[in-house]
Amino acid sequence: MRSPLLLILAAGYIYCKTVQLQPEQVHISYGDSVYEIVVTWSTIGDTKESIVEYGVGFRPLNYTALGYSKLFTDGGTKKRSQYIHTATLKNLKPSTVYVYHAGSRFGWSDEFLFRTPPISEHWQPSLAIFGDMGLENAQSLARLQEDTHQGMYDAILHVGDFAYDMNSHNGVVGDKFMKQIQTIAAYVPYMTCVGNHEERYNFSHYKMRFNMPGETENLMFSFNMGPVHIISISTEVYYFLNYGIKPLVFQYQWLENDLKEATHPNNRTVRPWIIVMGHRPMYCSNTDPADCSHNSTFTRVGIPFLHMFGMEKLFYDHKVDVLIWAHQHSYERLWPIYDFKILNGSYEQPYLNPLAPVHIITGSAGCKENHSHFDNDKPYWSAVRSTDYGYTRMKAYNKTHLYFEQISDDQNGAIIDSFWIIQNKRKV
Ligand SMILES: *[C@@H]1O[C@H](CO)[C@@H](O)[C@H](O)[C@H]1NC(C)=O
Ligand SMILES: *[C@@H]1O[C@H](CO)[C@@H](O)[C@H](O)[C@H]1NC(C)=O
Ligand SMILES: *[C@@H]1O[C@H](CO)[C@@H](O)[C@H](O)[C@H]1NC(C)=O
Ligand SMILES: *[C@@H]1O[C@H](CO)[C@@H](O)[C@H](O)[C@H]1NC(C)=O
Ligand SMILES: *[C@@H]1O[C@H](CO)[C@@H](O)[C@H](O)[C@H]1NC(C)=O
Ligand SMILES: *[C@@H]1O[C@H](CO)[C@@H](O)[C@H](O)[C@H]1NC(C)=O
Ligand SMILES: *[C@@H]1O[C@H](CO)[C@@H](O)[C@H](O)[C@H]1NC(C)=O
Ligand SMILES: [Fe+2]
Repeated sequence: MRSPLLLILAAGYIYCKTVQLQPEQVHISYGDSVYEIVVTWSTIGDTKESIVEYGVGFRPLNYTALGYSKLFTDGGTKKRSQYIHTATLKNLKPSTVYVYHAGSRFGWSDEFLFRTPPISEHWQPSLAIFGDMGLENAQSLARLQEDTHQGMYDAILHVGDFAYDMNSHNGVVGDKFMKQIQTIAAYVPYMTCVGNHEERYNFSHYKMRFNMPGETENLMFSFNMGPVHIISISTEVYYFLNYGIKPLVFQYQWLENDLKEATHPNNRTVRPWIIVMGHRPMYCSNTDPADCSHNSTFTRVGIPFLHMFGMEKLFYDHKVDVLIWAHQHSYERLWPIYDFKILNGSYEQPYLNPLAPVHIITGSAGCKENHSHFDNDKPYWSAVRSTDYGYTRMKAYNKTHLYFEQISDDQNGAIIDSFWIIQNKRKV
């Protein structure tokens, strides 16, 4: 005789198992090129298989990418774990909309779509850029969702500090944050950079939850978008020296090598723009005693006493065009600067053939720490400042014209700053 209670228990067990195997936290990133998309998602239980089904144009989803999963256990007291799945969609056609869903025979995500770029010579890549966006008070998210779904961006750059923090509440905050950004990150590549809020457990959440190009656990990598070479670095190797000096030295050598490749005439002729993103700024004029009040930030001049591995000279020597930072919850744009000098006195906009990198600090997408404030006195090197919540848009028009604008969420999406960088005399 069958007991109804047992049946209910069994059904409940199967139900729970099924729910635990449902994909969540779907997001995408570039693989080895912009015609390769890496899909990442999570399940609580082990699905034994990781599959993305996708279609060209629209349905049917008649292509399949097989991936793999890894078990990720949070470092907190509850040791919460999840399977993080990865599958790579290769050899994608240019200028094509793809529809996909991710999962396994135990359950599938929603369907999402993404668009591949045209062949690179004619492509004008367009990006949204910001740092310091949390689970709570994510002020820019609504506008980023609208922009993204309207097809405004090819990719998004998140310049460090996620969720506040991904490890909080045994990783629950990270899961909720990844679900929250699925609304944008499942549609355009969500390219990342590590910040100080990712430090816990040796940056394990950041290393495990994202899949950036290269083999360096997302900590330093570069990728190309049309005429632009974008480099993401960890400024945290200069600050969390409790993990030793090896990561710093390793990154410095990696960076030197990457810049050497990128500035080789073969490459710079094709991709003249070099943009570096890192979390903590080299210069800032906020009322932040730790980072803005002294002239010798570690990332700029190197670690204390040794004064080695400072990156400003490296960037200057390789004629890096733009340095994008965050960490301060505000927006600040600098005049072209090297070692506290505005080269050639070029207090001018558009920036015409600037002789030093243009820095911007864009960390105001919103988090539970709210705004940062500025010093009363604006330094000579600071061009524009705003404490409004918001984010940056960038468009590379071509090999000579790069355009930026700053959006204010406090002012209903108004453009509160815009500028061009024009490099029409570059010698490579
Ligand atoms: C998938 O479907 C599309 C649209 O019907 C078709 O053009 C394509 O050849 C199909 N590919 C495969 C591998 O079946
Ligand atoms: C921290 O992570 C780095 C890079 O993944 C690794 O090389 C290092 O050994 C780790 N350090 C500790 C103390 O776990
Ligand atoms: C140029 O860039 C490509 C792709 O990033 C890279 O594989 C190559 O080694 C670079 N260097 C030269 C000298 O072409
Ligand atoms: C930083 O250096 C500049 C140029 O040497 C100087 O004008 C400024 O006062 C210095 N600021 C601080 C806080 O030391
Ligand atoms: C410095 O600026 C002046 C005036 O804008 C310009 O004529 C000159 O070419 C610049 N020098 C260099 C080295 O770019
Ligand atoms: C941020 O703003 C909210 C709403 O005004 C306030 O409740 C909270 O205390 C603020 N947090 C900080 C760290 O200032
Ligand atoms: C590059 O783009 C700018 C802005 O649209 C335009 O004015 C300029 O003519 C373009 N240059 C070339 C070589 O196409
Ligand atoms: Fe930060």
